[in-house]
Amino acid sequence: MQPNPQNVTDYPNNNTYFLVWNFRKNITPEKIRSVFQRVCALVINLNNSALDRFPDAKASCVLGIGHDAWLKLDLPRPLPRELKTFEPIIGSRHTAVATEGDLHFHVRADEKSLAYDMSAAISGMMKEVADCVVEVQGFRYWDSRSVLGFVDGTENPHGAAREYFAVIDGQDERYKGGSYLFVQKYMHDLDAWNALPVEEQEKVFGRTKEKDIEMADEVKPKNSHTALANIGDDKKVVRDNMPFGSVSGNEMGTYFICYASTFSTVQEMLTNMFIGNPEGNYDRVLDFSTTKTGTLFFVPSLDMLDAFSG
Ligand code: HEM
Repeated sequence: MQPNPQNVTDYPNNNTYFLVWNFRKNITPEKIRSVFQRVCALVINLNNSALDRFPDAKASCVLGIGHDAWLKLDLPRPLPRELKTFEPIIGSRHTAVATEGDLHFHVRADEKSLAYDMSAAISGMMKEVADCVVEVQGFRYWDSRSVLGFVDGTENPHGAAREYFAVIDGQDERYKGGSYLFVQKYMHDLDAWNALPVEEQEKVFGRTKEKDIEMADEVKPKNSHTALANIGDDKKVVRDNMPFGSVSGNEMGTYFICYASTFSTVQEMLTNMFIGNPEGNYDRVLDFSTTKTGTLFFVPSLDMLDAFSG
């Protein structure tokens, strides 16, 4: 039987918590491992319980593990083939920063109450041994738009293609059913963005704003986001971005999150965006968006998570 994946192919919904935790340095490896075991069991428990109690709530939690944590927790060797510490990508104008992360939790639910309860249960356990370094509460903005006003997610794989692009199959026999998880927290310069006429904003994405229609290749600018992020029909990832932020400080952002069967696909998209293709032709969305975090995690299959839970 094929290993079952975690809920990586779920669709984005109304409310999401993104949590990144780092183990504290002064805690013994034994203590960290024992809490990790319990957290794996808790994640499985929360998913099963939500499905049983609220079958239509589209609630789930996915656990990802960073490279250094994998070693610290003494998880199986050899490691997943492409699991490494993400290195910054430094372009002529913009940098994709790299930040530390031991465990990542992606909690989704239609109802905020359920997302909150699940996140609170996880935090209650994690705080024994780790500090939360990123907590982002993402929300669905209108018809799945980013706060820049454009629909985000249209060209995502749908149906069976989600599993094909998000979940490891033949790429790494040992880690079948797993996924690479890459996240970046972006903050937007909304004043500069809103000062841009809509036709110019459309050139930044290569799509129309209101109706979300793709521009024809002849008119789509070469430095638009979709021209650079699209690296071919056979190289896709499953994206679940959500807007977040503080309205009074005008500090709004996009939490970029994707699941992929290979990290090299994500790396190629990022290189196109930050270095440019050709070099220097970087993604214009970056003139309005700055990375605050950037971390790679590995999401073990559900079966492996179960085995980790002891
Ligand atoms: C500031 C952060 C970002 C924002 C606001 C954003 C927003 C968008 C929007 C509005 C679209 C067009 C609709 C759609 O197909 O989803 C799009 C497409 C896409 N984005 Fe992003 N994105 C961001 C970062 C990224 C990053 C970091 C990657 C890859 C590592 C990426 C990969 C893609 C891909 C593959 C597409 C589909 C392109 C196509 O096939 O037409 N995006 N994004």
